[in-house]
Amino acid sequence: MRLVVRKLQVCDFQMDLSSKCKLSRLFGCYLTSVTCKCLALVTITLFLRAILLHLFSGYGVIEWNNPDLILSPSLLLNSEDGIRREKFLEVPQIVWGLNNQKIAFARACLTARMLNRTLLMPSLSASLFYKEIDRLQPISFDKVFQFERFNSLCNGFVLLGRYSDLKNQTGMYDLQKGSGRKWTVERDLEQLKQSSKGFVDEYEVIRIVGKNPFLWHDHWPVKDYARVFECLVLVHEIAKEADKVVSKIRQMGRTVRSKTETAQNNFDAEGSSLPPAPYIAVHMRVEIDWMIHCKKLEQRSGISQICSSKQEIMERVGNIVSLESPTVVYLAVADSLLNDSSILGGWKKGSLPFEKKKLGVDGIYNKHPYLIQSAIDYEVCSRADIFVGNSFSTFSSLIVLERTQKMIRMGITSSCDINVRWPSYAYNIPGESNRPQKWMTKMSDSSLKAISYGSNSISC
Ligand SMILES: *[C@@H]1O[C@H](CO)[C@@H](O)[C@H](O)[C@H]1NC(C)=O
Ligand SMILES: *[C@@H]1O[C@H](CO)[C@@H](O)[C@H](O)[C@H]1NC(C)=O
Ligand SMILES: *[C@@H]1O[C@H](CO)[C@@H](O)[C@H](O)[C@H]1NC(C)=O
Repeated sequence: MRLVVRKLQVCDFQMDLSSKCKLSRLFGCYLTSVTCKCLALVTITLFLRAILLHLFSGYGVIEWNNPDLILSPSLLLNSEDGIRREKFLEVPQIVWGLNNQKIAFARACLTARMLNRTLLMPSLSASLFYKEIDRLQPISFDKVFQFERFNSLCNGFVLLGRYSDLKNQTGMYDLQKGSGRKWTVERDLEQLKQSSKGFVDEYEVIRIVGKNPFLWHDHWPVKDYARVFECLVLVHEIAKEADKVVSKIRQMGRTVRSKTETAQNNFDAEGSSLPPAPYIAVHMRVEIDWMIHCKKLEQRSGISQICSSKQEIMERVGNIVSLESPTVVYLAVADSLLNDSSILGGWKKGSLPFEKKKLGVDGIYNKHPYLIQSAIDYEVCSRADIFVGNSFSTFSSLIVLERTQKMIRMGITSSCDINVRWPSYAYNIPGESNRPQKWMTKMSDSSLKAISYGSNSISC
């Protein structure tokens, strides 16, 4: 009941005057009368309940490909959230790669949540020139992700606000974040606690200054981050681009399969009438920058499973593919590898490698700045039937996190032993019969560290 009433408040808020008037005419009385208000309220409640029940009766059969419809039940349950609509947190422009930006954004949200404040919608960065401040190309959050949708999905957990919501009656309080070795997790947490009371809390806006938020200390469990990521839905223009790429990949797979079947069965299979062909996406990190970085990382951490060579990746991925049904392998690779023919050669029989250029979709990507290109590739990988990545990459890790969440929502809590429909693997860790190791995010982890800095313990 509480759920419905809370929903009602939201709807009530959005209801315009004319519909209120119609309602009052409907009840033959004025909405100023208390009885009438109650009557209207009950009616609306019943109506909304019917809608809600209708919406969620089909919960179990929701299609994978429709992220808009997939809601975890917890998203609908509002607790009394305590988030204040008239107190705000401002954070600096968010920088670096797409997934570092997502993490930083989530960290900003969770900081605001801790202070019971609304987060002022931050700027993301469209480019990757993180060392040259003037080339950062700020891009508003709502040019990439849906603003309203974010707030409705995250309702009761975190809240985004706009600068136009500000009253500007008090100045801003600058909260200087420390840095360096002396700035410990404990000090950082203590600073946040102090800022949530006393004179600092009086300010309408607390503005965080200092290093970019990805470098703030982490005080929150994986589950909280996952909860924020769930609310990030791409704006339609970008989502449509990802749809185009995915359908191109599936179309390619269908063509190949229908050819094979025609050859085998000697009849003409209609390409278009076949079900969409599954595909594997491989986040293949073999570019020189990464190789240098990962070798250093291996030396520093004493872990030898971080770097994988081209051959190793091809072999391990090839061992997942069944020979009877050739499968498109989409290679999410750095642009510097697009002219490198060696990544397309050497795959096992049955694996049909494509990158965006060979697929003919590089034109879709090239229209957009770095951040959007990355967001499209992220979508393509996270929707793949099978995803294979590197457990030391943030990009791969966040994809697996999202896939893990989706599986949990379908009722699957461990995908390690059983054959699930959308498995993920880490190619840098050898599994049985030289396949890549199955990979699932440990959702109960107490910090995002393992995910954001990489790990070879991948819970399978
Ligand atoms: C935030 O809200 C919660 C729940 O209403 C409350 O218990 C907590 O004391 C509040 N904290 C601050 C800093 O206002
Ligand atoms: C406060 O300042 C912001 C940005 O500077 C502006 O968008 C907003 O309209 C101002 N609010 C009021 C009430 O003047
Ligand atoms: C790949 O080669 C083409 C033509 O040879 C060139 O125009 C393009 O810039 C190259 N792309 C990359 C990413 O090196």
